Amino acid sequence: MSNQVAVVTGAARGIGLATTKLLQAKGMTVVMVDRDADALTETAAECGDTAFPLLRDVSAPDEVEQIFSEIQSRFGRLDCLVNNAGVADFGPIEQTSFERWRTVMATNLDGVFLCSQAAIPALKETSGCIVNIASISGLRASTLRVAYGTSKAAVIQLTQQQAIELGEFGIRANCVAPGPVRTKLAMAVHTQEIIDAYHDAIPLNRYGSEQEIANLIAFLCSKEASYVTGQTIAADGGFECSGVGIPALRT
Ligand SMILES: NC(=O)c1ccc[n+]([C@@H]2O[C@H](COP(=O)([O-])OP(=O)(O)OC[C@H]3O[C@@H](n4cnc5c(N)ncnc54)[C@H](O)[C@@H]3O)[C@@H](O)[C@H]2O)c1
Repeated sequence: MSNQVAVVTGAARGIGLATTKLLQAKGMTVVMVDRDADALTETAAECGDTAFPLLRDVSAPDEVEQIFSEIQSRFGRLDCLVNNAGVADFGPIEQTSFERWRTVMATNLDGVFLCSQAAIPALKETSGCIVNIASISGLRASTLRVAYGTSKAAVIQLTQQQAIELGEFGIRANCVAPGPVRTKLAMAVHTQEIIDAYHDAIPLNRYGSEQEIANLIAFLCSKEASYVTGQTIAADGGFECSGVGIPALRT
């Protein structure tokens, strides 16, 4: 992947930061997009001279345009777009105000749409790829996730739309659906009760790590995945496939 350029959104911490470091280790230059100035400054410094921090909000159309025009003028190419920036807000349907709903959709869905659309001209030049980060909450419904789960299910469908429309340009689009990972995002909404319940429901009996999610993202960015497009792959310890996972049916 040397000489290639990737953009990772939400790169200042968590899964985005792990992905940045892994793509760098594979030889890529990584544009780290995030809207958290302090975190971005701190982590970009530890990522060295193949990391380029860009303080931008992916939910703002004008800022998204700037991201891709800056990439074009600075690097003249783009090989991979990792749409990772996300926010979580859990609450019952009746207590999810339109404002809370829109805040989740603005980053989780609008951000993916906007960044992907703005990246297409550059990705056409390189037959590049898009990797969108959804969630197991987009694959299986759950209480409290009316906005988050719906935004992630939409990202899964958006991935398929991108794959079928952009395939003729050699652009691949895939989606990763992570299970729970102990990041700031997850820990803000996972109580101890939720953590215990996840351990119980996940066949591998544990949370995943940022690195385990990054490994799948990097694979989908690589030439090893050259015939893979339109797919959503869960990295979730088996949670999605566990079907009727009720305790009374366990051996
Ligand atoms: N951690 C989990 O358990 C989990 C599970 C499933 C899916 N995911 C998804 O993985 C992705 C990464 O999550 P994480 O757990 O690493 O979260 P995180 O909170 O640790 O990191 C998310 C980063 O995105 C940035 N960000 C948020 N909104 C942004 C915006 N509008 N513009 C630019 N940057 C923005 C934040 O500042 C932060 O640095 C998200 O899409 C999340 O929904 C996480």
